[in-house]
Order: sequence, then structure tokens, then C-alpha cells
Amino acid sequence: MINEKTENEISLMSYAGKVCYDLLNLMETEVKAGVTTKELNEIAEKFIRDRDCIPSFLNYEGYPASICTSINDEVVHGIPKDRKLQNGDIIKIDVGACYKGYHADTARTYKVGKVSEEISNLMKYTEEALYKGLSVIKEGIKLNEICKSIESVALEHGYGVIRELTGHGIGTVVHEDPYIPNYSNNESELILKEGMTLAIEPMFSLKGRKVWILEDDWTIVTQDGSPAAHYEHTIAVTKDGYKILTGE
Ligand code: MF3
Ligand code: CO
Ligand code: CO
Repeated sequence: MINEKTENEISLMSYAGKVCYDLLNLMETEVKAGVTTKELNEIAEKFIRDRDCIPSFLNYEGYPASICTSINDEVVHGIPKDRKLQNGDIIKIDVGACYKGYHADTARTYKVGKVSEEISNLMKYTEEALYKGLSVIKEGIKLNEICKSIESVALEHGYGVIRELTGHGIGTVVHEDPYIPNYSNNESELILKEGMTLAIEPMFSLKGRKVWILEDDWTIVTQDGSPAAHYEHTIAVTKDGYKILTGE
């Protein structure tokens, strides 16, 4: 079931989205060698609650923290803990906030100090894939157009597209229909309509696309140990384009 949202619902999501955007900006200065992911989680939880929101991920299907912090070969859903960031790491921070019952969800990949050119490019092109996926969005297009555009960037650079995780509809719950794979497929036949709210989120790995889940039952890592990047925005579909709800 896919619900188009009213203008009012979108404005609630947009408030939650602005809180998430400001938080990811704050993380640009908080991410540095020596900081633990637990400390980042504490900063984030306070930031979200101080702005009249609730952390969307805390207790979501039993998830034990307010944000996801995934380092290097960890793709997504890394649980904050006492691990310290080190120079040369990359960290994906994924945040969600709920305002008056409406969610927003957004993620970025950050460098800790200096990283190799190879990894820097992986980050750059995964972010490019997000914007390329967004660029085709408007009422009347087929969902698969988004999937195809995202995948095209990975194909061009030889990156692995993680298949086990997808973008998704979002609203009164974090994950709603439709699911939005980051590769072209036969199931994404849905025609977009104004008012649909979607989280678009490419996840690319430097080499192999296969992943495992760690024993904590959450953290997704690449099987070959290659680093992965992840960028995500929550958007609303409009008549002639889209509006980013997790931006400025
Ligand atoms: N933010 C993730 C997504 O982009 C979902 C995280 S759910 C959690 O879809 F429980 F792991 F936090
Ligand atoms: Co997310
Ligand atoms: Co998401």
C-alpha cells in the first residue's frame, strides 16, 4: 500500500528532515580520529530530542541506538560502541528523526583524516549516484527509472551494488512500500505520483557486492572486506520533479 502524503504531512516530514540535515552537518565537525561511535550517538540523540523529535531508529525492530555508524567494510546498520575512529577510516552515519509521528531518514559517508584516492572516488561517485537517481524523479515516471540511473553510475566505475538493502517509501513508519533497489529490475513498475515520499539510498562497495550480517544481528559487512559508501535523502515527489526533505 502506498499513501501519497498531504502538504501538511510533508511539512512535518520536512521539519524532521531539517533536523536530520543539521545533525549530519554537525557530524562533519564531530567525526575525527579518537572519537567513539558511542559518543557520536550520544551527541545525535540529544540533538534530535532537543528539537522536539524522537530518534526514529531507537528500538526500531529492536535496534539499540539512535543512529547507525558503519565503518569501512561495514555497509550499514553498524551499532555505535566504544570503537575509536582512526585516520584513514570512512564512516557512514545514518540518522532518522520523527516529528509528530512523521519520519525522515538520511545518511552520508565521512572521511576520518585523509583517505586513499580510490576510497575518495568511491564516496564521490556513490553520492553522484544518489543525485543521478533523484534527477529523474517526477510524477508519471516508472520507479525503475530511479533504480536504473543509480546503477548506471556503479556500472561505469565497476563498483558493487549491494542488493540485500534498498531505498524505500517513508512516512508514519521508517520503511514503507515501495522498496527501491539500487539496480534495474522488473518489479519496480510503480508509476510515481505527486505526494509520494521516498528514501533514496545507494550503497556501493569498492569490489564485491556480497554482504554478511555480523553476530550482533545488525551490522552488514562486505564479504570481501572492501570498503562501502552510502548516501541517502528523503524526498517528496512533485508534479515536475522532487523536493529534498533532508536538505537545507
Ligand atoms: N536508516 C536505515 C535506512 O536507511 C534504517 C535503519 S533501521 C535501524 O533504511 F534499525 F537499523 F536503525
Ligand atoms: Co537511513
Ligand atoms: Co532509509
